[in-house]
Amino acid sequence: MSEVAQAVEAIRKLRPRRVVLFTGAGVSADSGIPTFRGNEGLWRNFRAEDLATPQAFERDPVLVWQWYEMRRDIIRNAKPNAAHLAIARLHDAVVITQNVDGLHKRAGSGDVVELHGNIFRARCVREGTTTLREAPFASLPPHCECGAMLRPDVVWFGEMLSEPAIARASAAMMGADLLVVVGTSGVVYPAAGLVSLHRGLSVEINPQASSLPSACTFAIPARAAEATPPIVDAILEGSE
Ligand code: APR
Repeated sequence: MSEVAQAVEAIRKLRPRRVVLFTGAGVSADSGIPTFRGNEGLWRNFRAEDLATPQAFERDPVLVWQWYEMRRDIIRNAKPNAAHLAIARLHDAVVITQNVDGLHKRAGSGDVVELHGNIFRARCVREGTTTLREAPFASLPPHCECGAMLRPDVVWFGEMLSEPAIARASAAMMGADLLVVVGTSGVVYPAAGLVSLHRGLSVEINPQASSLPSACTFAIPARAAEATPPIVDAILEGSE
């Protein structure tokens, strides 16, 4: 019996009531958005660890903004894929995402915890105020009305995640009876560590093995767009 069929059977038996999703860049790969560490590679051979840091922004804000504007352009033109749309059918689920692309909300998910922020929000480095800005900036680096520079409102390496986001994500993980992990390498903390808070049935969807701290009950070696819909169908069957 295939891993999907085994997971579907276990979910049908469990009839989960409190579902939590934990997603990474792989859930958006089928929307044409490059992952950080997968085979799809990175922009200009830079590693996220070299660009997504306060030090890189301090050193060369224009280069960091060029990288973000390139990613914003790809994301602006991308569409939620079958995985995002399937997850959005789980109206009561909590979606904890490491992604900053906003595709879960665009797909219709209502309860999304964006652990690493959102690439379409910019933050004043002086006032800390944020503004939603979907359109490309006329010049880089962009500036706030107060004259200070704007930065992407995302969490960079070495920065803390927002306390409320961590609290909501931890509570969801501990309270869930089913965890579905989609498209993460599981190597970036503290996000990856949240998975070990979950004690119930868990299903992971990833074409390659991840380094998640606690192995999931079922590991489905498949693309998110292919394997997520049948898993969501099994969850919804139990809720009828
Ligand atoms: N479907 C499912 N998973 C996929 C697909 C796909 N179509 N394509 C690739 N993957 C998997 C890869 O096998 C890999 O394990 O998605 C994972 C992507 O891993 P990363 O690129 O490391 O992305 P992620 O785990 O989200 O990274 C976490 O690191 O750079 C920081 O802040 C950034 O949020 C990011 C964090």
